[in-house]
Amino acid sequence: MVDLSVKLGNLVLSNPILTASGTFGSGEEFAGFIDLNKLGGIVTKAVTREPRIGNPYPRIAETLAGMLNSIGLANPGVEKFITQKLPFLHSLKTKVIVNVAAKTIDDFAHVIRRIESSGGVDGYELNVSCPNVKEGGIAFGTDPRITGKITAAVRKITAKCLIVKLTPNVTSISTIARAAESEGADALSVMNTLVGMAVDIHSRRPKLSTITGGLSGPAVKPVAIARVYEVVNAVQIPVIGIGGIMGLEDVLEFLITGASAIQVGTANFINPAISEELAANLENYCLSHHIKTLQDIIGNLQT
Ligand SMILES: Cc1cc2nc3c(=O)[nH]c(=O)nc-3n(C[C@H](O)[C@H](O)[C@H](O)COP(=O)(O)O)c2cc1C
Repeated sequence: MVDLSVKLGNLVLSNPILTASGTFGSGEEFAGFIDLNKLGGIVTKAVTREPRIGNPYPRIAETLAGMLNSIGLANPGVEKFITQKLPFLHSLKTKVIVNVAAKTIDDFAHVIRRIESSGGVDGYELNVSCPNVKEGGIAFGTDPRITGKITAAVRKITAKCLIVKLTPNVTSISTIARAAESEGADALSVMNTLVGMAVDIHSRRPKLSTITGGLSGPAVKPVAIARVYEVVNAVQIPVIGIGGIMGLEDVLEFLITGASAIQVGTANFINPAISEELAANLENYCLSHHIKTLQDIIGNLQT
């Protein structure tokens, strides 16, 4: 038998394969494709205080090795999330992490307080990549002071696993990582999308209505690996690797670099069963290589 379990703070995942926010709905949408209980966990689409219709179309553009998106956090808001999505999530055995986005620290706190008082989930992932309206529109996650403040505010509300999802669009991701760690984050997700842009040469217009958007998919993997490497060497808490994972070799690359778990994003749009397949493939890999625990792989990078 192989022990694929990993710990994020006090949260134990049966295996390190999670789905990435915004690419897996709230899980229920994928229930017809895979056995959700075979995953280490599900990370939901961002939940905000109020409903959001998101950005105008077009808000997706394919690129050579990935995609650009500017969905704009479209979601029904926390009250509908509680009545329409939470009952299904409560019926699952797999771990459920709710991705939360907000424009103010108060709104982050409100969303988590409402979910906690409705039965809660296993953990929360703070999407700090959005603009903070009270601090002049600068993204929370580009400023260590604000990242620290929001982590501290939410930490007071929940004892559940608290994950801060870092943006790569900064000069020093390790400075932001340390700020989240020192204010009580249990784990860090690395990374959100990279700012990107594409132009239609016929209309000479940007391909996205918002002009720029977030780049994801295989194109970003080497950037993500470098960011994970930087963050695991800066903090003591576990890091969840995200960016361009398409197959087992990618999963192993992140684990060897030091990620304790990984999230699968864009790949879900190509193969909705990929996350379950990766969990099975990882187990088979460990069996065939006589690896009994993932601690033999995680952080085993030879430099
Ligand atoms: C269509 C789309 C929607 C996304 N929505 C969210 C979101 O709501 N919250 C969030 O934190 N990240 C969101 N992301 C970022 C992903 O969770 C992930 O960090 C990123 O796509 C990199 O992983 P990948 O290359 O495997 O896709 C979204 C990504 C895509 C492609």
